[in-house]
Amino acid sequence: MRQLEREIAESTLDLYVPEILVGSSEGIDAYAANQVVELIKGNPNAVLTLPTGSTPESMYEHLVAIYKKGDVSFHQTTVFNLDEYWPLSPAHPASYASYMRSHFIDQVDVSPENWYIPNSAAADPERETKEFDALMQRSGGVDLAILGIGPGLTCHIGFNERGSTADSRTRLVELDSETIEANRRFFSNPAEIPTHALTQGVANILEARKILLLVKGGGKAAGIARALTGEVSSDAPASFLRFHPNVTFVVDYEAASKL
Ligand code: PGA
Repeated sequence: MRQLEREIAESTLDLYVPEILVGSSEGIDAYAANQVVELIKGNPNAVLTLPTGSTPESMYEHLVAIYKKGDVSFHQTTVFNLDEYWPLSPAHPASYASYMRSHFIDQVDVSPENWYIPNSAAADPERETKEFDALMQRSGGVDLAILGIGPGLTCHIGFNERGSTADSRTRLVELDSETIEANRRFFSNPAEIPTHALTQGVANILEARKILLLVKGGGKAAGIARALTGEVSSDAPASFLRFHPNVTFVVDYEAASKL
């Protein structure tokens, strides 16, 4: 059994009080982008876990602008994505592969062989997720994981919905009805809205050396308060971040309104 899983099973993990930074939505984007750039400048071979969704869109705009000014290169950087819908064509405009290509990968110099995202069309999702997990293990570990949090009280991180355990690994999951509802806006044809996804597990996320959780908007206020002040449990997977000694919640004013 891997070290983190053993510690979780034996409940020997300590609880930490996360650092909380509150600012404007624009301030959050610039802060997150600068964290990435500083890391890559100090360690061009850094390994990142990166999110999709509306929250990090402007962070990617900052990163692309900084890259285009010639101030950073991602040539040696490895990127693991947090999650992806399943099943869906990777070429579908709402796939997370499409999102990553248009917001980041195709606009900077990340090498295609250094970018890993679960295959949304994998015929064998179990094999796909096991291989993804093995790639993460072989990468030497994630230096910085950037995450969002799910809508309402889902408190999901990646697509680790309520019920996910702290020792969960990359796997196929069923999406929460609240998540499916929130994702409706990205699909012109309602029949295409995925009900399942492939996601890094909570344990994969907790193994990162540093974690930034980006949170924006009043719709996240109750969830973030639950994650920070409620019981640490599968009922709110983002609460598991309190097992991590180096996590920062980067929260805008609206999302911080219940803290
Ligand atoms: P959002 O999604 O950034 O679009 O709100 C975040 C998430 O569901 O993790």
